[in-house]
Amino acid sequence: MKSFEDQCVVVTGSATGIGEACAIELAKEGANVVIMDFNKQGAEDVHQKIKAFGGKSIVAVADLNSWEATQSKIDEIAKSEKAIHALIHSAGGFPNYVNLLDCPIDAWDSVVNSNLRSMFFLLKAVAPHMIKQQYGRFVSVSSMAARSGTNPNPPHYTAAKGGMLALTRQAAKDLGPYGITVNAVAPANVATPRTNAIRSPERIAHIQKSTPVGRLAEPEEIANAIIFLASRKASYVTGITMDVNGGATMI
Ligand SMILES: NC(=O)c1ccc[n+]([C@@H]2O[C@H](COP(=O)([O-])OP(=O)(O)OC[C@H]3O[C@@H](n4cnc5c(N)ncnc54)[C@H](O)[C@@H]3O)[C@@H](O)[C@H]2O)c1
Repeated sequence: MKSFEDQCVVVTGSATGIGEACAIELAKEGANVVIMDFNKQGAEDVHQKIKAFGGKSIVAVADLNSWEATQSKIDEIAKSEKAIHALIHSAGGFPNYVNLLDCPIDAWDSVVNSNLRSMFFLLKAVAPHMIKQQYGRFVSVSSMAARSGTNPNPPHYTAAKGGMLALTRQAAKDLGPYGITVNAVAPANVATPRTNAIRSPERIAHIQKSTPVGRLAEPEEIANAIIFLASRKASYVTGITMDVNGGATMI
């Protein structure tokens, strides 16, 4: 039996990058994957990739910046799929590197909302369904930036990803009694289409030099850690941050 057979797993931000890698690996493990993203075309493309190898998935288009859109979509999924066993929150990121003093005020709100406030919305929307089931897994994708900052520093992103780790611990305390675990993964330097576009050759060379394993990560290497935390096997793990960074920051 595959490890996610008969489980419904929602993956936000799964139209591309780390979220896409999670969706594909989970479908290979038998999950019914919900590809939740505001990029409809990208989500449809991932759905077709999963269909091509006989996996199960559906597309759920929603903007996680909206509480109403998030709540109604999660309720709709819980009704149509009968249960939500796990939710992986990978949507987020930031548009470009910017230092503290140059960071525009409206960029702060936009980045904090799409990374951190969206996590609060998702927890608030999905927890009532998981409480009814007395089972659930919630895994967020934070960043090494939350551990150590980055250079150059996107201050809104670092703060949002740090907030996600604090919210992970708080939610783990609140939801643990209902059989729900809440954890975070903190990746660094993953070769995804978005980050490939904003990293200069000099920055890539710097990452290779300063990372003990000597290279960037593939999205699947981050997905493997996330999927462990989203699985039944991680039953006694909650409130943690798992660093998946090739040794770039050791805590
Ligand atoms: N790539 C890296 O090096 C790296 C490193 C550390 C952490 N991370 C984190 O991992 C996660 C995934 O990164 P990635 O590089 O794969 O990102 P990405 O930009 O490739 O993918 C993000 C996805 O989220 C979706 N999305 C963004 N805002 C949304 C919203 N408001 N509503 C619905 N969907 C939304 C986008 O459409 C996209 O499909 C992000 O949270 C990012 O901060 C990435």
